[in-house]
Amino acid sequence: MKKREQFTSRLTVVLAMAGSAIGLGNIWRFPYLAGQNGGAAFILVYIAACALLAIPVFLAECIIGRRGGNSTFGAMRNLAPGSNYRWAGLITVITPMLLLGFYSVVGGWSVDYLLKACTLRFTEDSTGLFEDLLSSTWEPIFMHTTFMIGTAIVILLGVKKGIERFTKVTMPLLFVLILVIVVFGLSLPGAGEGVAYLVKPDFSKITPSVITSAMGQAFFSMSLGVGTILTYASYVSKEENLMVSAGGTAIFDLLFALLAGFAVMPAVFAAGIQPGQGPGLLFDTLPYIFSKMTPWVGAVISILFFLSVLMAALTSSISLLEVGVAYLVEEKGASRTKATIGLAAIVWVVGVVCSLSGGVFNLLDHLTSDWLMPFGGLLFALFVGWKMSKADVRDEFTNGGTRNLRLFNMVYFLIRYIAPVGIVGIFLTTLLG
Ligand code: PFF
Repeated sequence: MKKREQFTSRLTVVLAMAGSAIGLGNIWRFPYLAGQNGGAAFILVYIAACALLAIPVFLAECIIGRRGGNSTFGAMRNLAPGSNYRWAGLITVITPMLLLGFYSVVGGWSVDYLLKACTLRFTEDSTGLFEDLLSSTWEPIFMHTTFMIGTAIVILLGVKKGIERFTKVTMPLLFVLILVIVVFGLSLPGAGEGVAYLVKPDFSKITPSVITSAMGQAFFSMSLGVGTILTYASYVSKEENLMVSAGGTAIFDLLFALLAGFAVMPAVFAAGIQPGQGPGLLFDTLPYIFSKMTPWVGAVISILFFLSVLMAALTSSISLLEVGVAYLVEEKGASRTKATIGLAAIVWVVGVVCSLSGGVFNLLDHLTSDWLMPFGGLLFALFVGWKMSKADVRDEFTNGGTRNLRLFNMVYFLIRYIAPVGIVGIFLTTLLG
């Protein structure tokens, strides 16, 4: 078999994984879910879900991917020949396609707002722009198409050239810009209420559905349960410390989500926007913030901001498409070009349906993150915790007994017991509740 490409340096691994993890999930989805689910209380549950469920699953995916040296189907087959677990590989084809369908629609919205930032001046009334966009049939479809084509082109360029080049420049830029927006947002009159909303938990707001959303968001945000991290980990060299890659990605990811929350929520309160209004929250709020800046500053920052959001979205969407492409190329012998174009076409159709129907959009948004991704994560955790031998898991996690020795027992316990019981428990509560 052809030797697989490997990422060239440790920083690149963390950057590529973080590139997949950090995206619209952090910037668009986290603030709107926090707004719908009680603010600070949601954030606390979210952090717990990251620590107890998502990070263990992240590590489980890294262990399977690197040890199995292949994408999901192949890796599981290599590690447990003949076992039924290999069917978990199927979710890595189906879930990403559904997810990318609606993701690309939101990616399209960002393209649209980038164009608006280049051609319009945002004013206080710009909060109505989003409704106008949604009420048009063709504009969102056209933008979604543009986004999908961009994603496919990057995949066609290949792992190294395609992915590495993108992640290095735009992530730091996005970070700085969000920070600028946070600082500016905090200075708006009325912003204090938004801050209080994010830091003063009202524990009575924690309900089963809040917990389910927090779990779903943790999986969505860290790109788990679909085989993306697993596939990336198969490109990671044996010398890397998986704990550092996972921990680094998780910390960056959380930081971006929290910052996005603090960029959006104070302005939501300052502008009198409803925090619980749903998926349009980011796109209604940002123009308001930019409109309050000195005009040329607002223009420059808004253009750079939407550009870097778009790049963050692209590094996530390419990682989603890559999972399916890797499967078709490695398992079915398809050519990279055909696999990419074929899958992109399927996703495009899913996206068009989502674009035309808000109901389908919401359904896919919640179906993938609240159910399919945690379910995939559950299978990966069970595979590492119960199917692989403990000695193999230890060997992979500790790089042959040289690293992370003291952490191993705790991590193994989380993967074997806590994550599976937690995920199943939340599923049952939702189903029975
Ligand atoms: N984690 C990405 C985000 O937060 O935008 C979304 C995502 C990318 C989910 C890749 C799953 C995935 F495989």
